[in-house]
Amino acid sequence: MAHEVRAVVARKKGAPVSVETIVVPDPGPGEALVKVEACGVCHTDLHYREGGINDEFPFLLGHEAAGRVEAVGEGVTGIEPGDFVILNWRAVCGQCRACSKGKPWYCFATHNATQPMTLLDGTPLSPALGIGAFAEKTLVAAGQCTKVDPAAPAAAAGLLGCGVMAGFGAAVNTGAVGRGDTVAVIGCGGVGMAAVAGARLAGASKVIAVDIDQRKLDRAMTMGATHTVDGAKGNVVEAVRELTGGFGADVVVEAVGRPETYQQAFYARDLAGTVVLVGVPTPEMKVELPLLDVFGRGGALKSSWYGDCLPSRDFPALIDLYLGGRFDLDAFVTETIGLGDVEEAFEKMHGGDVLRSVVVL
Ligand code: APR
Ligand code: ZN
Ligand code: ZN
Repeated sequence: MAHEVRAVVARKKGAPVSVETIVVPDPGPGEALVKVEACGVCHTDLHYREGGINDEFPFLLGHEAAGRVEAVGEGVTGIEPGDFVILNWRAVCGQCRACSKGKPWYCFATHNATQPMTLLDGTPLSPALGIGAFAEKTLVAAGQCTKVDPAAPAAAAGLLGCGVMAGFGAAVNTGAVGRGDTVAVIGCGGVGMAAVAGARLAGASKVIAVDIDQRKLDRAMTMGATHTVDGAKGNVVEAVRELTGGFGADVVVEAVGRPETYQQAFYARDLAGTVVLVGVPTPEMKVELPLLDVFGRGGALKSSWYGDCLPSRDFPALIDLYLGGRFDLDAFVTETIGLGDVEEAFEKMHGGDVLRSVVVL
């Protein structure tokens, strides 16, 4: 039996999203039907609506979600109806060349549900990042569900499904921040703020938050930053060097996704240090660096996909840190809203006072 549920759909490039009735099939082999409890509003949802990802309209938006498994299809093991799960958009295959080399967080063949969700007239929907969770129910591959402690409220837990995990993982997984390291995070939105918190939890001795918005800097100090640098006011590279004995930070996380902030990250790191790019650039952006500096400064220039996370390893661990009072996920939830408020939440993204608006169902 298919399910008719309310959901947020982007029908046309640049047009406001609408709440519509969609049809969600019962789970087939390897799939899970999830009753969504909360889903954060991410920049990527807006990029879909603006046609910046691809042209496969209509899109079913939403991808930072937590909910309860309602039903599972044939052959699904590991989750069952009633389980509280966080959805992920990189269900690892276990077989591709990355997985077979023992690096499943790079999986090159991640999978999604195979049956389409549709509009009432049968038009198939393209679910954002293979999830589509601004919906009362959604259909995903079972591997996209990671069971976590149900004591965590859904609004906070769901954020681990994308931005918060990306930032936290950029520092901890990709940057491999360790005890005593100095770290700078450029851009302290939801992603960068999670990198700040992650770096501190990993034992960094200094965590320097860089942003051009004073409100973000103030908040970063409550999330684990030890120092702040206002990028609107001075030379970021100089300021970070000054705070790190004149050398630069061991790890610099770039969480803006722009050439100028990438250059700052490149020069604000110590010799043999690591730059982690987790901010997502747009296609026309280019970065120019003296090749001699790339060589001479050594170290590693890395990108972080989804925080190089392994959901089965990282989601339950971060939820446990949250429940233990060591990682304040609630601080990322600026407001809770309804399904009908997503368009307004997109507008608020530009204002800078929201880390995350979270749709609660
Ligand atoms: N220098 C420092 N900070 C900057 C600069 C700059 N030149 N320009 C913008 N910022 C800050 C903003 O003030 C804001 O606090 O970067 C932050 C970006 O935050 P958000 O817009 O909330 O974005 P977020 O959700 O954190 O995502 C950051 O990661 O996943 C990607 O697509 C996402 O590229 C985006 C990035
Ligand atoms: Zn794989
Ligand atoms: Zn996202």
